[in-house]
Amino acid sequence: MLIDTHTHLDSKKFDNDREAAIQRAREAGVEIMINVGFDRETIPSTMELAEKYEFIYAVIGWHPVESIHMREEDLEWIERLSAHPKVVAIGEIGLDYHWDTSPKDVQHEVFRKQIQLAKRVGKPIVIHNRDAHEDVVRILREEKAEEVGGVMHCFSGSWETAKQCLDMNFYISFGGPVTFKNARVPKEVLAKVPEDRLLIETDSPYLSPEPYRGKRNESAYVAYVADAAAVILGKDRKEIEKITTDNAKILFGL
Ligand code: NI
Repeated sequence: MLIDTHTHLDSKKFDNDREAAIQRAREAGVEIMINVGFDRETIPSTMELAEKYEFIYAVIGWHPVESIHMREEDLEWIERLSAHPKVVAIGEIGLDYHWDTSPKDVQHEVFRKQIQLAKRVGKPIVIHNRDAHEDVVRILREEKAEEVGGVMHCFSGSWETAKQCLDMNFYISFGGPVTFKNARVPKEVLAKVPEDRLLIETDSPYLSPEPYRGKRNESAYVAYVADAAAVILGKDRKEIEKITTDNAKILFGL
């Protein structure tokens, strides 16, 4: 059994075959999918999926790229919705210095407010970090995020950064990039992450693993991430399934 701990099945990219994509995931052994809604449009569509399918859970939050557009009432809305029994975490939240759409100070404030929200509602957080390792770690520390813990989603940082996150109770999740031949760093980091902190995901429809690199990603392909992890760790695919499924169940209370 596999769990895709980070997917966006509500994305418009699935408008023509959403049912079929979900079915393909189930047939590939993906028994649970965690869908992430991150703005005014995708939070409602994520909640709809979570209410329609017993095996789809929801993570909701405000994406750092959209920080500039977040109003106080959006935060209140997320907090209200987070009481829903299918909402298992707050995310994806964090910092994104790649897309220059929201000023850093605004991103920091929105990030901090959502860590505080997660602490109020007692749910873990799902972290999006792009080119902002130092500030992400600093803010997690300053806001005492270890009290709720969470996951560094589609981790792309160094072992040094991973270590700092592990020290704060965080899980490290890997996606398609660990299947790329030239992706030396994520493979090295995966090899060092303690077994009881390892998660896998697709981040579909983005970041397709080999052999679908460059094409649309979907939750079924988390199986390729599991295969890559098995090779890197020198374990059976079945062992990887058990390790990552147990970890996801513990973190998200599934
Ligand atoms: Ni995502």
